Amino acid sequence: MKYDFDREINRKDTQSAKWGVIQDPDDPSRWHATDDYYGEDRVLPLWVADMDFPAPRPVVDALVRRAQHGIYGYTIRTEAYDRAVVDWMKRRHGWEIEPGWIVSTPGVVPAVNYLVRTFVGPGEKVLVQRPVYYPFFNAIENNNAEIVSSSLILDDGCYQMDFDDFEKKAADPATTLYILCSPHNPVGRVWSREELAHVGEICLKHRVLVVADEIHADLIFKGITFTPFAAISEAMAQNTVVCTAPSKTFNLAGLHTSNIIIPNDRLKHRFQQTLNSCGMGKWATPFGVLACETAYREGEPWLEQVMTYIEDNLDYLQEFIDSHIPGIRVIRPEGTYLVWLDCRGLGLDKWALKRLMLGKARIFPDEGFIFGPEGDGFERINIACPRSILQDALERIRKAVIG
Ligand SMILES: Cc1ncc(COP(=O)(O)O)c(C=O)c1O
Repeated sequence: MKYDFDREINRKDTQSAKWGVIQDPDDPSRWHATDDYYGEDRVLPLWVADMDFPAPRPVVDALVRRAQHGIYGYTIRTEAYDRAVVDWMKRRHGWEIEPGWIVSTPGVVPAVNYLVRTFVGPGEKVLVQRPVYYPFFNAIENNNAEIVSSSLILDDGCYQMDFDDFEKKAADPATTLYILCSPHNPVGRVWSREELAHVGEICLKHRVLVVADEIHADLIFKGITFTPFAAISEAMAQNTVVCTAPSKTFNLAGLHTSNIIIPNDRLKHRFQQTLNSCGMGKWATPFGVLACETAYREGEPWLEQVMTYIEDNLDYLQEFIDSHIPGIRVIRPEGTYLVWLDCRGLGLDKWALKRLMLGKARIFPDEGFIFGPEGDGFERINIACPRSILQDALERIRKAVIG
């Protein structure tokens, strides 16, 4: 079937985080409910990573049937579910996994927190590559560990890893874990096999365990190939915990279902013990498992169409900004539906930039600095929305910047 992603869908009264709350332009610690967000003067939310598109039709139909059943008791992951995950990884990414490697968690962020808790001792260091998805910082600090960044280098509009610096930091005996973001949020890089192999070898050499957050793995633009980190070699697989989920791919984040894939038995056992010690990991949610299995079995036509739509949105945004907003440069992503905008040419400090976007343009992006100090002067915007919303947002930015 052909999907219509142009249709604006009112998310009022759906308890949507994206549309239901807004940060105060002057005091980021304060959030307001946005009861009037469908008024004339609504602020356009382009922040948190969910899409303003309904999930694939087969998923919606399956959930409606399940909701009508009326009994929502304790639910288990079935063999058919595991098989759907195994088949998806093989079909989409050429990665052969076994059902026994899958551990369920109610999200990748909870998993990353539990992984740090399991594998990092107090005072040890966790390596990340800023600017990067900021909940990694919380996961590290929540568990009394220390953040160490081998920051990415922006080279002629494209972010690169700094391998020498990475190795220096990985070689510190206090560094015991590396959180890889692949594809990378917010800069949109889909790391090449060579780049991944390079950091993977460094981690093996210095005995640094790898957590590969691959939640955006299915959201890849034409001509680009995603490489699953653990598929590079058996040694790498044995040293890696991979975080996957259908949530970004099919817009199911509210169903809290993710699949953590751990080829190494010993690591899997330790992780499972942490989950057990928190009373977690035994049950699934009825809607989550059904949605994941259905999406992985029947969602591909939707995924192909949504990625084409998002890439067209990206082209539109690039053309608009290049022609109308000097001072902002698009860092063109290779995947994800998040776009990293270099706004340093506007010459504003981070608070002035925030006031410009939220107060004057009345759009709500994610501020670059929340991804680490390397993100100062940048904004991350979510383009998984109908073109009309994107056009409105860009026009607002143009007016706020140019007048
Ligand atoms: C890199 C990355 N990891 C994890 C998440 C969120 O994961 P979850 O909703 O499964 O906790 C996001 C959401 O934007 C993300 O970008």
